[in-house]
Amino acid sequence: MVLSGPNKKAIEELGNLIKANAEAWGADALARLFELHPQAKTYFTKFKSFDASDEQVRKHGQRVMNALAEATHNLDNLHAHLEDLARKHGEKLLVDPQNFHLFADCIVVTLAINLQSFAPVTHCAVDKFLELLAYELSSCYR
Ligand code: HEM
Repeated sequence: MVLSGPNKKAIEELGNLIKANAEAWGADALARLFELHPQAKTYFTKFKSFDASDEQVRKHGQRVMNALAEATHNLDNLHAHLEDLARKHGEKLLVDPQNFHLFADCIVVTLAINLQSFAPVTHCAVDKFLELLAYELSSCYR
């Protein structure tokens, strides 16, 4: 999977919007994950609620979206940039990597309903970016 020049430009521009809306968009994407795929809740034993308005969901959503935004500025260096996060998910949290794809689908919906325009070319760039992210986050399981 390779991001083209125009793909990279689209993703980098999106990074700033993601950062500016990290808490609200992160919480929305997480709430979708928990509603559509309740098994994902099992990794978040400290959460008291899985609603997008919940403080813990909002704070975690913000951390996830900030990590996503930072990744948009490291597209030529994704493997090294995400190594610590990949180790955390793969060696400590032991998140089933299939969840990264499920979450990617939720993030796409969050972006689609919040961005002023989500043209097919933007959708494609986002899809490729999230696939790369899932690949990198899955890289420390064995
Ligand atoms: C786009 C994909 C994802 C990104 C960018 C991401 C990012 C992050 C970040 C930045 C942290 C905090 C790391 C730290 O404190 O050192 C984190 C923690 C965590 N992530 Fe992910 N994550 C992703 C997907 C997932 C998925 C799909 C799951 C499970 C369904 C998951 C489960 C967790 C858990 C359980 C924690 C620890 C939460 C806590 O106790 O504070 N992550 N993630």
